[in-house]
Amino acid sequence: MTVDWGRGGPDLLVAVDRDAGPLRTQIQDQLRAAIRDQRLGAGERLPSTRRLAELLEVARGTVVDVYEQLLAEGYLESTVGSGTRVAAIGSSGGSARRAPVVVSAPSSPRPVDFEYGIPDLRSVPLSDWSWAVSKATQTLPTAALGDEDLAGSRNLREVVTAYHRRVRAGWATAEDAIIVSGFRQGLAFALATLARQGIPRIALEDPGPRDHALIARRAGLEAVPVPVDDHGLDVGRLRRSGARAVLLTPAHQCPTGVVLGPSRRRDLIAWADEVDGVILEDDYDAEFRYDRQPVGSLQGLNPARVIALGSVSKTLAPTIRLGWVFAPPRFAAGIVEEKRLSSRGAPGLDQEALALLMETGRFDRHLRRVREIYRTRRDLLAAEVEHAFGPGRLRGLAAGCHALLHLPDGSSERGVAAAAETMGVRVNPLSHYRFVTEDGRAAPLGFPPALVLGFGNVDEQQLRRGIRILARAAERHAGPARERE
Ligand SMILES: Cc1ncc(COP(=O)(O)O)c(C=O)c1O
Repeated sequence: MTVDWGRGGPDLLVAVDRDAGPLRTQIQDQLRAAIRDQRLGAGERLPSTRRLAELLEVARGTVVDVYEQLLAEGYLESTVGSGTRVAAIGSSGGSARRAPVVVSAPSSPRPVDFEYGIPDLRSVPLSDWSWAVSKATQTLPTAALGDEDLAGSRNLREVVTAYHRRVRAGWATAEDAIIVSGFRQGLAFALATLARQGIPRIALEDPGPRDHALIARRAGLEAVPVPVDDHGLDVGRLRRSGARAVLLTPAHQCPTGVVLGPSRRRDLIAWADEVDGVILEDDYDAEFRYDRQPVGSLQGLNPARVIALGSVSKTLAPTIRLGWVFAPPRFAAGIVEEKRLSSRGAPGLDQEALALLMETGRFDRHLRRVREIYRTRRDLLAAEVEHAFGPGRLRGLAAGCHALLHLPDGSSERGVAAAAETMGVRVNPLSHYRFVTEDGRAAPLGFPPALVLGFGNVDEQQLRRGIRILARAAERHAGPARERE
């Protein structure tokens, strides 16, 4: 009996689910099971790796790995000229009646998740990472297996400093750099340091990243909101806030996607000098700008007043949990002390691995690759939104992995998001990012109703379907909004 390796039938031999873990393992397990229970009989010829990769819409290398593994395990055999066939295993091989089987893409559509902030997880350069960890493990001097330098690996500090200067137009030396386990940890250490140095209040963007007010309060600071408009943080309102510290996302505001305008940048620096203040720059995704060069780091404009915080959560993957802080000398020692007391250090081998990735050019190569993926997705998103919602609805820079979708006036953001969820699309309303006071109140935002679309981890097919569903959900909730959520 011959297997029909075509598409679309009900009997699935191999079906991949992109949300259910590594594709290689899924395909391997299903083929192995099909051979074991004789849905694939001895002698059956498998499609070429290229053909199966096309049918399953996966990378050819994934299928090559699967075949190699099953060849090694004895489930498959390969002879020159006759391709890859199922090997005879056990006594009953080939005798049982088998139903015709087909390969098909999964029949029910995968949910679409426009969650903010997730990079393309299928593009994480795992083989480069595993090379780097292995190399770091082989080359780390024995003495370095003890406690790390309190500020972090010297190698990595030098490498990220060079990167910050080269890519972000920053102005720092390795002495200013402290390695941390991601941006959030660096932020917590920096805020605790401000609190200990008598800076009791911090201004935060409204709307802004979700947990920043909570992190600030936990560090012992009072958090106050400052509105964001189309040019970024309103520096006039910052002046009136009475704060001497501010935390912001100047290169690409989270979540509105705007850039801090040039006069606001200058004004912000002037404000910091006037109040003897400090600016915390969350520099989380500036590597990804598709229409022009990204604006440089604020830290380069005034290194004495800016604490810049970077991370590889967007560029590589959130799970790597590494980031850095560039701090003026008056704060650096305090931040290092917070680090020492809370965690003693960041994982040393991973720091060396990241340094290796960066200094060998693998990190830049990866950035070039994913930048093209995101640029294509952002272009497609703009086209789909224009088609479904009309012109001018997609807002925010052509940058990063998120954009703002302005809904028709009077729409209910939450209504649209809830309706979309019932149709398999997850998305956050802009109000999700509003500043919330300690007693749970939130002032209305000065933005029209909008949704925040994270497109980093949404492939093109999902993106098209997701936008069409959002348009249907928006039609249902186009009436006058109830009170602004
Ligand atoms: C606004 C913002 N800042 C910083 C980060 C990075 O945080 P972390 O390094 O803790 O993952 C993210 C997420 O990637 C983010 O969206």
